[in-house]
Amino acid sequence: MSDSHYIQYQGLKILKSSHPQVQKIKRKQPGHSAHGNKVWRSCFALIDYLITYPVEPKSNVLEIGCGWGVAGMYLTKKQQATVTGIDIDPNVRDYFNLQNTINHCTQEFQERGFESLSSDDLSHYQHLIGSDICFWDELTNPLFQLICDARNAGIKNILIADPGRPPFWHLADLCTEQLNSEVITRRILEPWKSEKYILVI
Ligand SMILES: C[S@@+](CC[C@H](N)C(=O)[O-])C[C@H]1O[C@@H](n2cnc3c(N)ncnc32)[C@H](O)[C@@H]1O
Repeated sequence: MSDSHYIQYQGLKILKSSHPQVQKIKRKQPGHSAHGNKVWRSCFALIDYLITYPVEPKSNVLEIGCGWGVAGMYLTKKQQATVTGIDIDPNVRDYFNLQNTINHCTQEFQERGFESLSSDDLSHYQHLIGSDICFWDELTNPLFQLICDARNAGIKNILIADPGRPPFWHLADLCTEQLNSEVITRRILEPWKSEKYILVI
């Protein structure tokens, strides 16, 4: 397969929309309801942050709104993490599976909304990550509630990457006011020069 169908990043092959197997999946699926139709750029800033501040090897990690599962793939490869990716969009599963198969990664995928996660579900994980998941105003309060539940369930590290959309800043304000959190600006040069934000709780 030609390299022009991949972005190479941190030893991972990230599928581009032009990849023939991606095109094949797209042709047989109806439209996407919540933007799970490509890899979004904030996930590269999240990986960049995780390179500087790695999770401990073999951690249990939950990725919410995982899309094609790129950040989780990085953690399974580099930190031997056990990662569960959840996404509300059923169409994501085929891309997620393709992306992981091509990279010889094993991650569990669950088709569900993050709102459905119980304290018991959350208590299995040490880390909760997400990239570009706070893109509608309606997502801010449920995400804040999830973050509170995750902390109460014992998750010690929560990272939400974002390009800086207004709902994300609202979420960041809530976390700063009520929890011990900070927003870090992350400038990356690869695979594209860009600047994103990481909410660290
Ligand atoms: C902008 S995409 C980002 C995907 C991926 N994190 C990335 O960086 O490439 C947002 C993702 O969040 C998912 N999503 C939206 N609302 C959700 C919810 N309530 N629970 C779980 N996933 C959700 C969408 O289906 C989509 O895959």
